[in-house]
Amino acid sequence: MQTLKNVVIFLPVLSLTIALQKPCQRRSYGYSSIVCVCNETYCDETQRPSKPLDGTYVAYTSSKSGLRFYQENAYFSRTILHAADITVININTTVRYQTILGWGGAFTDSTGININSLNAATANNLLRSYFSKVGLEYNLCRVPIRGTDFSTHGYSYHDDKEDMNLSSFKLAAEDFQYKIPLIKVAQNFSKDKLRLFASTWTAPKWMKHNEKYTGPDVLKKEMYQPWANYFLKFLEKYAEEGIKFWGLTTGNEPSTGLVPSKINSVGWLPWQMEQWISNNLGPTIRNSKFSSIKLITIDDQLFMFPLYIDWMLRNENVKRYIDGFGLHYYWNWLPKSILNNTHNKYPDKFILATEACEGVSLNLPHVKLGDWERGENYAFDIIGDINHWTAGWVDWNMALNEIGGPTYIDNFVDSPIIVNASAGEFYKQPMYYALGHFSKFVPEGSQRVKYQQSKNNLDISTFVRPDNGTVVVILNRNDYNIQIKIKSNNMIEEIYRIIGGRSIVTILHW
Ligand SMILES: *[C@@H]1O[C@H](CO)[C@@H](O)[C@H](O)[C@H]1NC(C)=O
Ligand SMILES: *[C@@H]1O[C@H](CO)[C@@H](O)[C@H](O)[C@H]1NC(C)=O
Ligand SMILES: *[C@@H]1O[C@H](CO)[C@@H](O)[C@H](O)[C@H]1NC(C)=O
Ligand SMILES: *[C@@H]1O[C@H](CO)[C@@H](O)[C@H](O)[C@H]1NC(C)=O
Ligand SMILES: *[C@@H]1O[C@H](CO)[C@@H](O)[C@H](O)[C@H]1NC(C)=O
Ligand SMILES: *[C@@H]1O[C@H](CO)[C@@H](O)[C@H](O)[C@H]1NC(C)=O
Ligand SMILES: *[C@@H]1O[C@H](CO)[C@@H](O)[C@H](O)[C@H]1NC(C)=O
Repeated sequence: MQTLKNVVIFLPVLSLTIALQKPCQRRSYGYSSIVCVCNETYCDETQRPSKPLDGTYVAYTSSKSGLRFYQENAYFSRTILHAADITVININTTVRYQTILGWGGAFTDSTGININSLNAATANNLLRSYFSKVGLEYNLCRVPIRGTDFSTHGYSYHDDKEDMNLSSFKLAAEDFQYKIPLIKVAQNFSKDKLRLFASTWTAPKWMKHNEKYTGPDVLKKEMYQPWANYFLKFLEKYAEEGIKFWGLTTGNEPSTGLVPSKINSVGWLPWQMEQWISNNLGPTIRNSKFSSIKLITIDDQLFMFPLYIDWMLRNENVKRYIDGFGLHYYWNWLPKSILNNTHNKYPDKFILATEACEGVSLNLPHVKLGDWERGENYAFDIIGDINHWTAGWVDWNMALNEIGGPTYIDNFVDSPIIVNASAGEFYKQPMYYALGHFSKFVPEGSQRVKYQQSKNNLDISTFVRPDNGTVVVILNRNDYNIQIKIKSNNMIEEIYRIIGGRSIVTILHW
């Protein structure tokens, strides 16, 4: 293991102020790090960063050793220092890449059920943690169109009878209990900067050959238009409740619907989906009052990108209707260069990470309270996606219970916030802070910028914010500390710091 023994420089990092914050109430459950405990009277908070005094920058650290958004304001250095072990990060803010759309999670039924299992004050602290300016400042969230595997039962909006014109379409009780009221509180906390996109899971049984919520199956050909109308009906019903959508995906995981899975889905082969978007969904949406909504296709694993996108976008209509591609997390061991290829072929389409979670299937136990590696996995994946043209990253369930549910098909997983209803508490996991190291400091409209690093021992993304602040997010997955020097075309001074082993650091300077 590398050590810093031979480094003899003194680092001029003087802490100036520790801003008034409400710190994490730490608790260990025996995993590699800690959770922060919130209840009805207490929850940790972090103020929105403001431009620091001239000659200084600000850094926020979270670490396996227990720091959470630990803030330090420190002086720049003009001293020319050299050390063999130092990692030099050279930023050039004049070279700009994609513009950031944002960060968030999903308003699943299970998220709503768990938040509603807390009393009003505690539930308020939870939503505040995600959406307010003292929380993660989420601005881009996914809303399932009816049930998912994170519901208490399988359902669609229109199961009861074969009603091709959908004249009796109405929202479900779940919309009014678990989604709409929570979305309104979130919108309020985020001062209306929250953008939503909607995704379907299964179609009504009567639209499918096998008359089941699950696959392997595809839609009946004569149901292509009713299924497109169903998307439109959903947008209309939510508009009646005062909720507007920014985006709409062509459906969650078409690949899942093609295999024997317990997850409710609609399977699509590429040529079927191409026909449906070209002849049904595209015209239906673009000729409606929701014509400017962003249409996002794929909404599935990385392996689907090369298999589906080229096939579907050969069709000029599909190419015109589609605004972006949605990416899921679970095959993230595939090379991210696939995303570069997608971007290079379709530079006017965005790529958005639309779903992620840890603790899936064999990765037991599903919930690991305080596990640092799961937070690291989030940060590593976000940096990989962002450095390959992805414009934002949206998590899956925002709150689950202590066993990672409810899920009516027993598909338990982990979540950045775990609710303990009987104790009236919730626990913020390392994943919450890992995502927050981006969502809180890299607002919508920021742009990724170029950097080079002299050694490959850190994972890094660099951005310029709409207020012209420069943001450097650094993940150290090594057990040892690493000294860094940040140089940028837009500052005369340099930044010297030690990036602690097993930590995530966000550095901002203006
Ligand atoms: C809530 O958390 C605070 C801070 O940890 C603690 O002082 C207080 O006793 C807790 N309240 C309840 C009702 O558990
Ligand atoms: C819609 O369906 C209902 C009941 O199935 C029927 O009464 C009605 O005429 C249909 N409307 C149209 C426009 O087809
Ligand atoms: C929105 O926030 C205001 C205070 O900022 C509060 O009075 C109001 O009740 C909130 N509305 C909702 C739906 O949460
Ligand atoms: C992907 O594209 C980015 C931006 O153009 C570039 O920095 C990176 O090296 C590319 N990566 C690969 C694996 O092609
Ligand atoms: C949840 O709260 C109950 C009741 O206070 C307690 O017995 C249980 O251990 C708590 N679970 C966790 C994970 O802290
Ligand atoms: C950011 O910098 C650009 C060019 O350097 C300038 O035109 C713009 O006004 C600045 N924006 C803010 C918010 O300071
Ligand atoms: C930044 O990149 C631009 C464009 O490639 C180049 O002209 C400029 O010299 C670079 N600046 C530095 C400090 O490397």
